[in-house]
Amino acid sequence: MTLIECRQLCRTYRRGENVIMPLKELDLDIESGAFLALMGPSGSGKTTLLNLLAGIDRPTSGSLTVDGQDIARLSRGQLASWRSHAVGYIFQLYNLVPVLTAYENVELPLLLHKIPKRERHDRVASSLDLVGIADRHDHFPRQLSGGQEQRVAIARAIVTDPTIILADEPTGDLDKEAATNIMRLLQQLNQELGKTLVMVTHDPKTTEYAQRTLHLEKGQLVEPGILEMESNRNDKPDASPTEATIAQEASS
Ligand SMILES: Nc1ncnc2c1ncn2[C@@H]1O[C@H](COP(=O)(O)OP(=O)(O)OP(=O)(O)O)[C@@H](O)[C@H]1O
Ligand SMILES: [Mg+2]
Repeated sequence: MTLIECRQLCRTYRRGENVIMPLKELDLDIESGAFLALMGPSGSGKTTLLNLLAGIDRPTSGSLTVDGQDIARLSRGQLASWRSHAVGYIFQLYNLVPVLTAYENVELPLLLHKIPKRERHDRVASSLDLVGIADRHDHFPRQLSGGQEQRVAIARAIVTDPTIILADEPTGDLDKEAATNIMRLLQQLNQELGKTLVMVTHDPKTTEYAQRTLHLEKGQLVEPGILEMESNRNDKPDASPTEATIAQEASS
């Protein structure tokens, strides 16, 4: 079943005389339960697309349907309410509130909802438990490692039990081991809890955890086949001379 449907999605920014168009007539279908990786050069529109999917930003034109509802047409208040239960967002730099403990950071999104304190406590505790950081619940972000901070940020993203999890370079600031652990955790959220996951990444290694990888180039999706052909060409600058040499040897 298609969960997210983008049709002719455009986002334009005006800066004085200049018009920047980070997304150009983008068509994209994302299945419910998918784990999609999104790659592309800096400035190609990846974060812009993620922000539209999150309902943090609105398209300039085109439609963006999630679960049959065109979220581009919702009022500000409706959009905020939709976002607070449907979407969990994970950032490269965690974005935890420094003066709040891990527990309080994870509790924050629940304060937007009318949830009794007891239930709030249970939800926060089970989210912290799920990401394996329950023993650090009373630590402040500065007392945690990068990998641990990202775990808390993931707990915060899932505490409202959203359908969609969006992650913008979630391992971009982590070492290899911490990155692998975070990727396993994201995969678990997708496979075991059935969350639909869209992850922006610059690291091809992390795409191995996704079911599908798409490439953005100047605000449009490009065929990965073309990119692979180009990168193969670039990876092997001496391919032609070698082939020429072999041909020469064969004919002599
Ligand atoms: N609020 C804004 N106002 C004006 N221009 C913006 C705004 N947000 C993004 N842009 C522009 O849109 C383009 C795409 O930006 P975006 O952040 O989506 O790129 P990205 O693919 O996420 O890049 P990176 O890999 O560096 O994070 C850039 O040219 C950027 O300057
Ligand atoms: Mg970005």
